[in-house]
Amino acid sequence: MSKPYRVIRIELPHRETAVPALLVLVLLFAGLFCGLGPYLPNPWPVEPRPVPAPVSIPNAQLTDKDLNERVENLLAKMTLEQKIGQLTQYTSGELTGPGAAQNNYSDLIVQGQVGSLFNVVGAKLSNQFQHLAVEKSPLHIPLLFGYDVIHGERTIFPVPLALASSFDPDIVEQAARVSASEASADGVRWAFSPMVDIARDARWGRITEGAGEDTYLGSVMAGAYVRGYQGKDLGRPDSIAACVKHFAAYGAPNAGREYNTVDMSELTLRQVYLPPYHAAIDAGSATVMSAFNPLNGVPATADPFTLTKILRQEWDFDGFVVSDYGAVRELIAHGVASTGAVAARKAISAGVDMDMMSDLYRTRLAALVKSGELPESVVDEAARRVLRVKFALGLFDHPYADETRAPYAATPDKRALARKAAEETLVLLKNSANPIPYVGKTLPIAANTPAIALIGPLADSQIDMLGSWAAAGDPKDAVTLRTTLQARCDAAKTKLYYAKGTEILTDSDAGFDEALAAARKADVVILALGESAPKMTGESSSVTRLDLPGNQEQLLEAITQLGKPTVLVLFDGRPLAIKWAAAHVPAILEAWYPGIEAGPAVADILFGDVNPSGKLPATFPRAVGQEPLFYNQLPTGRPADDIDLTHPPTGEDKYYSRYIDETNAALFPFGFGLSYTTFAYSNVKLSHAAIASEDMAHPKRSRFLAPPSEIEVTADVTNTGPVTGTEVAQLYIRNTGGSVEEPVRELKGFQRVTLKPGETRHLDFTLGFRELSYYNLDMARVIEPTEYQVWVGGSSDAAQGANGAQFEVTEK
Ligand code: NOJ
Repeated sequence: MSKPYRVIRIELPHRETAVPALLVLVLLFAGLFCGLGPYLPNPWPVEPRPVPAPVSIPNAQLTDKDLNERVENLLAKMTLEQKIGQLTQYTSGELTGPGAAQNNYSDLIVQGQVGSLFNVVGAKLSNQFQHLAVEKSPLHIPLLFGYDVIHGERTIFPVPLALASSFDPDIVEQAARVSASEASADGVRWAFSPMVDIARDARWGRITEGAGEDTYLGSVMAGAYVRGYQGKDLGRPDSIAACVKHFAAYGAPNAGREYNTVDMSELTLRQVYLPPYHAAIDAGSATVMSAFNPLNGVPATADPFTLTKILRQEWDFDGFVVSDYGAVRELIAHGVASTGAVAARKAISAGVDMDMMSDLYRTRLAALVKSGELPESVVDEAARRVLRVKFALGLFDHPYADETRAPYAATPDKRALARKAAEETLVLLKNSANPIPYVGKTLPIAANTPAIALIGPLADSQIDMLGSWAAAGDPKDAVTLRTTLQARCDAAKTKLYYAKGTEILTDSDAGFDEALAAARKADVVILALGESAPKMTGESSSVTRLDLPGNQEQLLEAITQLGKPTVLVLFDGRPLAIKWAAAHVPAILEAWYPGIEAGPAVADILFGDVNPSGKLPATFPRAVGQEPLFYNQLPTGRPADDIDLTHPPTGEDKYYSRYIDETNAALFPFGFGLSYTTFAYSNVKLSHAAIASEDMAHPKRSRFLAPPSEIEVTADVTNTGPVTGTEVAQLYIRNTGGSVEEPVRELKGFQRVTLKPGETRHLDFTLGFRELSYYNLDMARVIEPTEYQVWVGGSSDAAQGANGAQFEVTEK
């Protein structure tokens, strides 16, 4: 949990005011010495500002003395088998992985051999199991019910990649809070979320479940989810425990292929991949899920380096670790365990406390302890960690879900939040001049447009609007674009021509003629294209192609070539390679999977009732061969920055880090997103031109004359266009001169600001140790005497030039 502390700011006097200021200071000091201190105005403005603490703070509820006494008292009464029972988890109901380990748990629960169930949804059903555990098992220890609550329980919000496009941690926290309240009403007290795996490769289907490619954004979002789920008090009946996953580096499988090997330097691991998990732990996440993948030669579920050294020793994590689905047994397939017993021993010894679905802890651990191959203290410690979380959740005091709570309804307030969240997540990728130039740009669509065509397999598909991992969400609650447009068009007396055109994945063009006929009759054409949420995105959905699936590209090209004002609305779970569309379709809106309020949110943007403000959390490539493609690349010795890449290399420009058939650049970069207005940045200024590394690393929190430990960056952003709009102002840095290479640009701050036409907002960012430090070759987090470029803009490709500044870090 982050604790707010005070940042002390000392405003140094300007030269012109230095003499009067000195006089004032002398008088104030004199006053202080005369005992007038408490009555004098504070000589230096001290601005209280809650910022996340720079060091790891364990979840205070898990370290509570009384709670831990209760844990120890209970542990002392438990047999070895009962302790192992707490480490055992099964799915009951829907399977979210291969094969069920058991089908009937009732007997095992009564014997105290099950600690947790997942995929049990509904107060009544969970209570049935809970009664067995609490009333019939020997020590009455309640079960903990888990579920994949990823972007909503029943009120389904946009998928996490979309939520990240909002750059709005507050709305993510609110969405997670609603999820917690609905999940707990369903008897679920544990969400297998947030997934914070950094994903730099759009081929990986699970990119949809996280915050995308950036470490800073990912860390901010990680904290927001945890705070939303857990609230201020895990023990409230409507709070649920978070489970940060998949630890570690699951998002970097070779070639984007699901469950594949991950191999990376420790430097990259610590610098890029670990911070979001750490941010979730710092925010108090009560649990962690170990990943399926091997990391640098060791399966993550048997890796003491990540699970014990980093998680426990470096980050002070006091909760428990659950394996991913069957991952303990998969140690055999990985070839690091020859038997189930070895797999169980390796996993628990590395730090996996609970076995999800392998059934190996329950069936092997006791024998391992009895034979002396596993110290009982290892089992004790794992059970202790699980019980701590159960006590913190208040399960011993209120184990049952309230069956009298009203059944779920998508109430107006929840719908309003889902709609606002969706609106913030839509990213306008292109908006060129209307090809029939009677109203300037293609978007927004004029309210009095006589006829609109809506075409495409995603225009009216409720299930797809929910996205993958839609928990207990009901597709019937989702409003499609067709439904909303029909209502809007009826009210406006606009004619709406709808044609599906094609299926998401088919090579039949049987629907093309109808679609072309609809488009011909319309003044504006909207194409709703993309991927099937359940079949093509999420777990186990890696691809080798990033084009529009099936023959959607052919449909798109045929319709665009009619020359009408055409808008492509993409519903998908990953960045697609839409090079032709980017060149030829007049307007493109990335909608991801917006959740139950998909139709209203997309329509609000299309008609300009809401100005788009989303920014890309993941880079769109020009071609799949560029993957993994991300904005914060390390520099090369042969940068191709100034080379003409529109043709294959000729003799003179051959030896550069480039492709011979494509530019290096993204089609749409990280942080990019258009608005119906425009923004301009100016006056980027720094509080200091130099700062001592010593002072940054060890800030002296004295009230008097403490040297600066942070750089304050200020800038102005102005709405230079015709309508009110919201901009995500982004702060980037580049560091040079250190002992290791640092990326060519790195996000280190952002702010969402809403501005009226002509309005200017003064922005204020802080760069301290947390933002500026990095790992050196000894894996120490350091600030070295180096130079930093700093700039502020509306995208990761914003030019550094006029909106940049630089400062130096000196040794002392
Ligand atoms: C496997 C997935 O990798 C994980 O994210 C999920 O939480 C579990 N299955 C449980 O469904």
